Amino acid sequence: MTGVGVRRGESHLLSDLDWSVHADERWVVIGPNGAGKTTALTIASTRMFPTVGSVEVLGEVMGKVDIAELRPRVGFASSMLLREIPMHERAIDVVVTGAYAVTGRWNEQYADEDTDRAMELLSAWGARSYSERPFASLSEGERKRVLIARALMSDPELLLLDEPGAGLDLAGREELIGLLDDFAADPLAPSLVLVTHHVEEIPTRITHALVLAHGKVVASGPIDEVMTGDRLSEAYGIDVTVESVSGRWMAVASRTARASHG
Ligand SMILES: Nc1ncnc2c1ncn2[C@@H]1O[C@H](COP(=O)(O)OP(=O)(O)OP(=O)(O)O)[C@@H](O)[C@H]1O
Ligand SMILES: [Mg+2]
Repeated sequence: MTGVGVRRGESHLLSDLDWSVHADERWVVIGPNGAGKTTALTIASTRMFPTVGSVEVLGEVMGKVDIAELRPRVGFASSMLLREIPMHERAIDVVVTGAYAVTGRWNEQYADEDTDRAMELLSAWGARSYSERPFASLSEGERKRVLIARALMSDPELLLLDEPGAGLDLAGREELIGLLDDFAADPLAPSLVLVTHHVEEIPTRITHALVLAHGKVVASGPIDEVMTGDRLSEAYGIDVTVESVSGRWMAVASRTARASHG
């Protein structure tokens, strides 16, 4: 993204965003509520055009490419998409139809290979046991896993996950981090960008971080350089201390910051 800005009326959702994600990098995007994280990810998913600036996704310039061809090459899992999900469908069908939803090519009769692939993805993300259940009946954490499997159904070259850990219990979160770490370790896996609110949720193999606040970049680059108390304090407007333990991150606000924030 070069000089990307998004305006809605008088509000600037994003301003002057310059951001490059290279094929071998795995990124996390963090920042307070309303920082513009989902907006940035939605643009990268080809589902939104910026008001200003240029966007290149997988070598294609947005605005000069057939979106129907580009969109299946990008996997996107976000609670933003929940309104597109047929809630009454079984989890397995939600995954299978993922491939059709992005291409716009609907086929009443799924091929057996599609169903096999969807089941493989559900198994890989620990969701096999509820593959036959209606999506509406799944818990928040269970839905997250199904949405990730759905995002991967079109075999994308770039995977964008918006708060994949939200709503997961401790064991579920740790399992997801393990799965994402395995995924990130695979040299053939797509490039990965994930949004999170909790630095504890950042998988150890994430290489880069983008910190946003109020629609602007606070810091961007290799994670060790970006994930500092100073940067997060600036982003969140409170005094934050950051530590790294065995590749995992921890952030806590100082006692006075906690008192004054409320
Ligand atoms: N149509 C709109 N008009 C005005 N403001 C909007 C519009 N759509 C979104 N916004 C605002 O843009 C800001 C950025 O939203 P975005 O969803 O990108 O934030 P986010 O960083 O993902 O936040 P969260 O952590 O809460 O998910 C928010 O303050 C939101 O209220
Ligand atoms: Mg968001």
